[in-house]
Amino acid sequence: MPALVLVGAQWGDEGKGKATDLLGGSVDYVVRYQGGNNAGHTVVVGDQKYALHLLPSGILSPNCTPVIGNGVVIDPGVLLSELSGLQERGIDTSKLLISGNAHLITPYHRTLDKVSERFLGKRRIGTTGRGIGPAYADKINRVGIRVQDLFDESILRQKVEAALDDKNQILVKLYNRRAMPADLVVQEYLGYAEKIRPFLADTTLVLNQALDAGKVVLLEGGQGTLLDVDHGTYPFVTSSNPTSGGACTGSGIGPTRIDRVIGILKAYTTRVGSGPFPTELFDADGEALRRIGGERGVTTGRDRRCGWFDAVIARYATRVNGLTDFFLTKLDVLTGWEQIPVCVAYEIDGRRVEELPYNQSDFHHAKPVYEMLPGWSEDITKAKTFSDLPKNAQAYVKALEEMSGAPISAVGVGPGRTETIEINSFL
Ligand code: GDP
Ligand code: IMO
Ligand code: MG
Repeated sequence: MPALVLVGAQWGDEGKGKATDLLGGSVDYVVRYQGGNNAGHTVVVGDQKYALHLLPSGILSPNCTPVIGNGVVIDPGVLLSELSGLQERGIDTSKLLISGNAHLITPYHRTLDKVSERFLGKRRIGTTGRGIGPAYADKINRVGIRVQDLFDESILRQKVEAALDDKNQILVKLYNRRAMPADLVVQEYLGYAEKIRPFLADTTLVLNQALDAGKVVLLEGGQGTLLDVDHGTYPFVTSSNPTSGGACTGSGIGPTRIDRVIGILKAYTTRVGSGPFPTELFDADGEALRRIGGERGVTTGRDRRCGWFDAVIARYATRVNGLTDFFLTKLDVLTGWEQIPVCVAYEIDGRRVEELPYNQSDFHHAKPVYEMLPGWSEDITKAKTFSDLPKNAQAYVKALEEMSGAPISAVGVGPGRTETIEINSFL
C-alpha cells in the first residue's frame, strides 16, 4: 500500500495543514520529514482553529499516528508546549512517535539565527528566528545534538561542550554577546529527556513495517519548493529539503515506495521574508489579496507578500517534485475580480522564457508575462462539486491545470475541512 508525499508548490503557506488534515482521516500515519517550528500550519476543524508548528497535522485525526521523522529539527521546549496546548483542548497526543535521530534546536542555535540576521542588515534572509539554519548547519557539520543524546548525560555534556567551544568564541568575539555556559544548556535539556522518552521510536522501522502491512503513510512537507535549499531561490531559502526527495531522506522510506506526490498550490502566490518574487504586487490588488486571504504569518505574525498566480513556478514544482497531482487552495479568495492576471512566462532581458531560470540573476530580472482570465462574482464557498463552480471559476482551474503540468485533483473554497471540492480521489 502506498506512501504519499504532500509538498508546498510555492514559497510555503499554501494550505498544507488543511490538506494534510483532510487526508488525515483516511491515512494511518502522518510524518513530518524536514523543517521544524519555522512552519505554521493552520487547521480549521468545525469551529475550532489550530495553529501547528512542529507537530504533524495528522495529530488532529484520532485514528492517525503522527510521526516526527529523522529529518526534522526539534526545539524540545516548543514540542512540549505544543503538546500540552493540544492536550488542554482535549486532543489525544499519546500516539506521537519521534525519531531518536532527529536533531535538536538549542538556545545557541536560536541566538545565532537572530544575531547573524541582524548582522546581515539589508541582506538578511528574513528567517523565522527559530534557530533552524544553525541547527541544520551543525547537523551537516557533524556537531549536532540528537534526540537520543538526551538519554546519556555524559554524551550530551561532551557534545554540547564541543559545540559551544567555537560558538562561544563567535558569540563573544564576533557578535559581542555573552558566552553561553554549556552546563546551563545541559541542565535544561536533561530536564526534557523523560518527557520525550515515551514518544521515542525507531520511526524508519515502524514506517516501513507499516507499509509492509498495507498501511497508508502520508509524508507532510513544511515550507515549499522554492524555499528548498537545493531547488529554491537560494540563499533566500530555508535550510532543509521540503521537495519530495527530502521526504525519503527525512523519513527513511525509499523512493520506490512512494506512489503519489501532491503539490499544494495556492490560486495566487505569497512569500514571507526576503528574496525575488516576480509576480509580487505593490498595489491595491496585493493589499486586497492580503486582506481577503488573511495573509499574515502564523509563526511570526509578519504580513505575507502577495502576487498573482505564477504558472512558471507551478511547472517547476511539477518537475522537481515529480508531482502526480495538485491540490489548488484558496480559490474563494479570488472571487470578485473582473479579470484575473496569471503569469504564463517571464520576460528576461527582452527574451520570453517558459521555464524557471536556474541562473539567480535571470530570476531577479524576470518580469511576468500575464494572460488575463475572466473572473467570477458568485460566492463559491458552498460549492461541493466541480460543476457547482461558476463557469469562469471552472475555466480558471482548468487553465491553471493546463499550464502547471499535473491534474488538479482537489480545490479549496474555504479554510474548513469540508470546504473542499474533490475531483479525483487521492487514495
Ligand atoms: P501551510 O503553512 O501550508 O499549512 O499554510 P498556512 O496555514 O500557513 O496558511 C494557509 C491559510 O489559508 C490558513 O489560514 C488556512 O486556514 C487557510 N486556507 C487553507 N485552504 C484554504 C482555502 O481553500 N480557502 C481559504 N479561504 N482559506 C484556506
Ligand atoms: P510553512 O510550513 C513560509 C521562510 C522564512 C524565510 C526563510 C528562511 O508554514 O509553509 P528559516 O527560519 O526557515 O531559516 O527562514 O524561509 N519560511 C517560511 N515561509 N512558510 C513557512 O512554513 C516557512 N518556513 C520558513 O520566512 O524567508
Ligand atoms: Mg504556514
